[in-house]
Amino acid sequence: MTHILVTGGAGYIGSHACKTLAAAGYTPVTYDNLCTGWQDAVKFGPFEQGDLTDRARLDQVFATYRPAAVMHFAALSQVGESMRDPGLYWHNNVAGSLCLIQAAVAAGCLDFVFSSTCATYGDQDNVLLDEGCVQAPINAYGASKRAIEDMLCDFGAAFGLRHVIFRYFNVAGADPEGEIGEFHQPETHLIPLMLDAIAGKRDALTIFGTDYDTPDGTCIRDYVHVSDLVDAHVLGLKWLEAGKESRIFNLGTGSGFSVREVIDQSAAVTNRAVPVVEGQRRPGDCTRLVSGSTRAAAELGWTPKRSTLAQMIGDAWRWHQTGHYDK
Ligand code: UFG
Repeated sequence: MTHILVTGGAGYIGSHACKTLAAAGYTPVTYDNLCTGWQDAVKFGPFEQGDLTDRARLDQVFATYRPAAVMHFAALSQVGESMRDPGLYWHNNVAGSLCLIQAAVAAGCLDFVFSSTCATYGDQDNVLLDEGCVQAPINAYGASKRAIEDMLCDFGAAFGLRHVIFRYFNVAGADPEGEIGEFHQPETHLIPLMLDAIAGKRDALTIFGTDYDTPDGTCIRDYVHVSDLVDAHVLGLKWLEAGKESRIFNLGTGSGFSVREVIDQSAAVTNRAVPVVEGQRRPGDCTRLVSGSTRAAAELGWTPKRSTLAQMIGDAWRWHQTGHYDK
């Protein structure tokens, strides 16, 4: 039985990764402090509650399961919050990852898959982003993820830790089988907030800024289905198992959609009106984040199969109507 330590396995992306790992024959061991995750979402392998900064607890979990690799999802991930309280991000994300990486190296677990972000690129006018683009984050969240990427390189050089770093674009949708989905409290992401507004669970969706330099004035993002995204992680794991070099991959589809386009598509998919108000820009938001890379396709053989806006919103809507987690 090959164990994979999945930090953040009780969270949105981590729980989908656990499902995909289990389907691929691995045993995912979730390590999560439940600060934003849900124990109800841990359905595909053992659960170990713990904090990234708790070295003794990490040592114990590595000793118990002897995982073949780490998939590191656990992180705070809200751009707006990171601007208001950067210390949270430097402590939880950066100091926490340092503790985890040191524990992995001490345990001899030297294959590491890391959940990074296109927010590390920052705002680069009209550029389709590939892995060679300069990294110039404009928010503390992106800066914290870039610091962890640097850390992985340094630990690779010193101790032979090998990594696959995935820079995610905007992850959306839910398990097409409806077992798990996206559930944040508080929610800050565009699609689930919009579905709440459509369902009458909150007031209108506020569009954060209508004066950006884009065709309709709203920000543009590259949305990728969570199930496609986690498929890439299994391919990344196999990349490391095959003994290949550390590598960085963007995970996006290369198509950008504005906030207004996402709203229109949501109205079409749900066949309901989306209550909307126009508001101010949100500090830290980039104008346009769209992947221009084909590396994951060419080298990992990754092909997104479910990442149309219609399927992402449709799967998210089905989950929204039926699924939720309780503490
Ligand atoms: N938006 C609104 N109104 C809202 C919420 C969001 O207009 O109520 C807009 C944002 O301004 C942005 C877009 O919708 O233009 C997407 O916002 P999200 O909050 O859904 O996602 P972000 O792009 O801010 O961030 C997400 C993840 C990050 C990741 C990033 C990569 O939360 O972890 O995608 O682009 F780094």
